[in-house]
Amino acid sequence: MKKLSLILTGILTALILIGSAYAKFAKPSEAIQYRKAVMVLIQQHFKEMGAVVKGKSDYDKETFSANADVLKMLATLPWEAFTTSGSDKGKTSMSSSVFKKKAQFLELTENFETATAELAATAQGGDLKAIRGQFGKVAQICGSCHKNFQK
Ligand code: HEC
Repeated sequence: MKKLSLILTGILTALILIGSAYAKFAKPSEAIQYRKAVMVLIQQHFKEMGAVVKGKSDYDKETFSANADVLKMLATLPWEAFTTSGSDKGKTSMSSSVFKKKAQFLELTENFETATAELAATAQGGDLKAIRGQFGKVAQICGSCHKNFQK
């Protein structure tokens, strides 16, 4: 489990560096690729936690916490890529309502960042019941954003 944490920490560090150093997009297609990649990572870590929450995988505090920390970090990364102009066209399922209702979109991204940070904090406490509740809140925000901003 220590090993997994180390690997995840490594990914995290790499993402922080990439996130702060390179997240400026020369073309809309780059923004699209970037945000889809982050969503795929989000999905993977969220799915692993979801299996635990649903009782399909065993609960291991350290592994769950490591996944929650990665999600918290990932949740801060892609929003500039979503609001890059022209990126509602091309190989994307993002709706142009992101531009038309930008304030609403940004509010959801903030809620998501807060909720994933709370999930990471709750995960450190190791109370599975509390974790389940907070996981549910995060899942609701995924759903709400997809419902409003995916075509
Ligand atoms: C604030 C808005 C928002 C939140 C929060 C959000 N998503 Fe997304 N997500 C999107 C949009 C918009 C797209 C479409 C991106 C595109 O096609 O360019 C997307 C795409 C995806 C995709 C498809 C990626 C691909 O390869 O095309 C997956 C999987 C995904 N989201 C999972 C999640 C999960 C799981 C969560 C919650 C843990 C989440 N998303 C939270 C807005 C959001």
